[in-house]
Amino acid sequence: MKLGNRLQTITSKIPKGLTVVDVGTDHAYLPIYLVNKGISEKVIATEILLGPYRKAQKNITKAGLQDFIDLRLGPGFNTINPAEADIAVIAGMGAMTIINIINESKQVADSFEKLILQPMKNPAELRKYLFKIGYKIIDEDVTWEDNKFYEIIVVRKANLSPFDETDIIVGPVIRNKKNPVIIEYINYRINILQGIIKDLKVSDTKACQKAVLKYEKLLKTLEEVIK
Ligand SMILES: C[S@@+](CC[C@H](N)C(=O)[O-])C[C@H]1O[C@@H](n2cnc3c(N)ncnc32)[C@H](O)[C@@H]1O
Repeated sequence: MKLGNRLQTITSKIPKGLTVVDVGTDHAYLPIYLVNKGISEKVIATEILLGPYRKAQKNITKAGLQDFIDLRLGPGFNTINPAEADIAVIAGMGAMTIINIINESKQVADSFEKLILQPMKNPAELRKYLFKIGYKIIDEDVTWEDNKFYEIIVVRKANLSPFDETDIIVGPVIRNKKNPVIIEYINYRINILQGIIKDLKVSDTKACQKAVLKYEKLLKTLEEVIK
């Protein structure tokens, strides 16, 4: 099975020989890939909904991997005990869902060597939450798939450390990595912001002026990063 860029980048951050939890596994592509490639001997796959759970069960059985992939029905980390696995993947969900999953099971979340998070929306909101609860961003990436950019944020529990707006908006690793996809991604965000500011400037209401200031600040942060 060939994974798309998004899941492929996530798997590239999983070292060999560790137990992985895949929260919201859906089709179970990630666990099946990890076991088939010899990256993991054991994966726990969780699903909140019965439909995707059955889909995952079918795919795991078809691949003959029932002894290696432990599929569990339930929300977030509810079916996981602290220290039962080394790495957690929470991918393909909104930032708020990822925040709730961590927040509801802090003891389990804190027990992982690392958590690989891939929010579909609002990565800045997720980073802000992670900094506030003392999680350290140890790696980040941006991938391009199906005409969309995806941010991948890798964290582990650490001590509370200072962070600033750029850490939240761009990410402390992304801002220094600057590979071609990241530069393209930041330029894409700059173009969107420039368009929004241009449209807002047509109106001179107080609300629009306030929004212009907010977006100009964001724009400046992004422009500084790729200077
Ligand atoms: C868009 S799919 C992503 C599948 C896979 N993780 C990926 O990245 O390709 C999101 C899946 O997460 C499941 N999900 C949403 N909230 C969840 C939660 N709180 N706990 C477990 N699974 C959840 C959904 O049912 C759905 O199957």
